[in-house]
Amino acid sequence: MRILIMGGDGYLGWPTAMHFSSKGHDVAILDSLVKRYWEAEFGAEPLIPVSSIQTRVRGWERATGRKIQLYIGDISTNHRFLYDVIERFQPEAVVHYAEQPSAPYSMFGREYCVETQRNNVVGTLNLMFALQRSAPDAHVVKLGTMGEYGTPNIDIEEGWLDITHNGRQDRVLFPKKPGSFYHLSKVHDSNNLEFACRIWGLRVTDLNQGVVYGIETPQTTMDKDFVTSFHYDAVFGTVLNRFIVQAVNGIPLTVYGKGGQTRGFLNILDTLQCVELAVENPADRGEFRVFNQFTEQFSINDLAAIVQRVGKGLGQDVVVDHIANPRVELEEHYYNAKHSKFSDMGLQPHLLTDDVVARMWETVRQNQARVHHSLVQPDIKWKQG
Ligand SMILES: NC(=O)c1ccc[n+]([C@@H]2O[C@H](COP(=O)([O-])OP(=O)(O)OC[C@H]3O[C@@H](n4cnc5c(N)ncnc54)[C@H](O)[C@@H]3O)[C@@H](O)[C@H]2O)c1
Repeated sequence: MRILIMGGDGYLGWPTAMHFSSKGHDVAILDSLVKRYWEAEFGAEPLIPVSSIQTRVRGWERATGRKIQLYIGDISTNHRFLYDVIERFQPEAVVHYAEQPSAPYSMFGREYCVETQRNNVVGTLNLMFALQRSAPDAHVVKLGTMGEYGTPNIDIEEGWLDITHNGRQDRVLFPKKPGSFYHLSKVHDSNNLEFACRIWGLRVTDLNQGVVYGIETPQTTMDKDFVTSFHYDAVFGTVLNRFIVQAVNGIPLTVYGKGGQTRGFLNILDTLQCVELAVENPADRGEFRVFNQFTEQFSINDLAAIVQRVGKGLGQDVVVDHIANPRVELEEHYYNAKHSKFSDMGLQPHLLTDDVVARMWETVRQNQARVHHSLVQPDIKWKQG
């Protein structure tokens, strides 16, 4: 298949591009490299140095004989560039990762909120118009997040909810109550994409992905140029990645508030597996399909306890610190999110075992000297902006 990976220079995009290329697909990467700029704004650096996208792609061709095409440009500010890529590459599948991915970034102030929503919402709108114009049959696999739902006091369904109201029945998108301007941008995307499926007959799979952890895939370990951009800082890092970096460095784990916040999680290997399953089993024309993409639920306290236990086994005392919650969120709540659609399609999950944490611990330890301790403390407060 011809597969376009939008955001292919990122944490998930680069491993996804290598994964599909290694399976013999014709892969192209599109990226504006804007994430490298956003990182620079906050002085955040990936734990392991990341090569330029050109070096990665050249090295991949040298190592495997497979070519990954590269398109550098911004999908939100340059729709003509995107039209041109879609027209020339004629993708059968588009995996759309190309968005600003951080909740704290979006809550830093007006410019950051506007930048997040402009970049994410307009980029996705431009993609819809580009496809309607010259590749209406292409299947979009769009990365959304479980955070779109928030923490409702009822079970979370996979995208759609069958309701009976005043004796009549209908099927509606599951009501969303997101917790940041970033998560809101994903809700807006979902609404726009559902509309494009309904009105123009586009085909879209919206993946409400949980929090991803992990550094390694079979391809990222092949060469130092193939590592992916693992973040541990309080702006771009995800929680388990950050906890392991804190533990290895003897920094108390920063649990926000009571730590009862429960979310869906998945290994980066399962991101690859789920995206592949979605690409191989496309939505129908006119169908807006939603999958909840995670394998296990944990509270923040659960994760801290796992890291503490693994640390103990490795001879390191891990201190857990409950700090004032910079976010506005429920710290104890009901959480039961359905996630059976990928299992029904054959997903073989990589669960969070102590061995998985120990392996990440070792990789982090090898790169310990690069950790900037000040970057793990959260500075961005939801209330103040
Ligand atoms: N990492 C997670 O835990 C997680 C969880 C749920 C959802 N997601 C979503 O998955 C996607 C990928 O996440 P990630 O962690 O790899 O993020 P990332 O920031 O590492 O990768 C995103 C890539 O998209 C590019 N990009 C952003 N805006 C662009 C634009 N306008 N034009 C072209 N390129 C652009 C960036 O330069 C970057 O390389 C994001 O949409 C994110 O919201 C991630």
